[in-house]
Amino acid sequence: MHDPEALRSLHSARFHADPEVFAAPGRVNLIGEHTDYAEGFVMPAAIDFATLAGISPRSDGKIVIYSENYESERVFEAVELPTAASQHWSDYPLGVLAILAGEGHRIPGFSLSLWGDVPLGSGLSSSAALEVSTMLAVTSLLGVTYPGPGMARLCQRVENEFVGASSGIMDQFISANGVKDHALLLDCRDLSFRLAPIPSSVTLVIANSMVKHAVTGGEYTSRRAEVEEAAAVIGRHRPEVRFLRDATMEDLANYGAEMSANALKRARHVITENIRTVAAADALVSHDFAELGRLMAEAHRSYSQDFEASCEECDAMVELAQGLPGLIGARLTGGGFGGCTVNLVRAEHAAAFAEILGDRYAGKIGIVPQIHICHASGGASRVAARIQPVR
Ligand code: GLA
Repeated sequence: MHDPEALRSLHSARFHADPEVFAAPGRVNLIGEHTDYAEGFVMPAAIDFATLAGISPRSDGKIVIYSENYESERVFEAVELPTAASQHWSDYPLGVLAILAGEGHRIPGFSLSLWGDVPLGSGLSSSAALEVSTMLAVTSLLGVTYPGPGMARLCQRVENEFVGASSGIMDQFISANGVKDHALLLDCRDLSFRLAPIPSSVTLVIANSMVKHAVTGGEYTSRRAEVEEAAAVIGRHRPEVRFLRDATMEDLANYGAEMSANALKRARHVITENIRTVAAADALVSHDFAELGRLMAEAHRSYSQDFEASCEECDAMVELAQGLPGLIGARLTGGGFGGCTVNLVRAEHAAAFAEILGDRYAGKIGIVPQIHICHASGGASRVAARIQPVR
């Protein structure tokens, strides 16, 4: 994560005001893909890449938002904020303001500077980190506190209602509520969760295929529609099933013929993935790494073949990791169609694992991947208070 003091200096030099600084992490999902909007289970961990947001009040009624990543500044009147997205990086912070305004908050003038190191478009939730850090900064300025789960819901609404992405709750939830050295088995129905400690002997090696993915793109949305189609078919026979969380393989055997071929395959992924995710949390808690690795391998197969959300490069990245010393399990993580694989690797082998995997991938695909050795980090928080003037 970037140094909060560096953001503070940047903000002070630009806006001549001392900011409060907040950080929100990106995430990696160990298992449980496209299950969140089916009210199922996911098991993400926050990672040590984050977006920092520095905020200070202004008295001229303006909202000035500066992104160091894009080296770009936008200026708005607080009383005349945009109410629709414009396919610009500022949609995320503006979406936060629109949702807060809709909740009845009067948004005052402020300066906001943003700086993140979550790789963009890589399936590591750079957008959730941006939303959650902005949400924390602005609510702090307003003097209101939302509990972590409530804040995650508001940030999900930024995606769904303002940005126009039909994503579930996972990314915003883990960014707001992550716990250092732990993955969270999250029940996306009621947002209750169980902590699964990641022992210090195990490292998260995140391998970026360098193939960009987009949650706003058509594929994510069409997969979600197919999942919902399958739930609707089963619901015609068993009205208590409104989401695939409540469906079983027996339902697919009984009613699968009434679904499109795609909906049937997507449903098979989601139903089996929910079972795998709960089992994976048990395996992690009981240090049964052989079982955890087996479940991750099965999850990747299901994600690639039934959900058809992988790509040639990501399949290769998973394949090339097999048999490398220290590997516990590998699979494509996140929304799919590119992005990163997550590899659970024994700590003493992590550096060599990363190097060999990178070489193998570059040799096979012809693209040099970025490979990061990460740790499960804590969720969003204030990282630097405003320096109080000396009286
Ligand atoms: C994206 C979405 C999440 C989730 C994952 C797939 O990251 O934002 O809500 O659906 O894809 O598991």
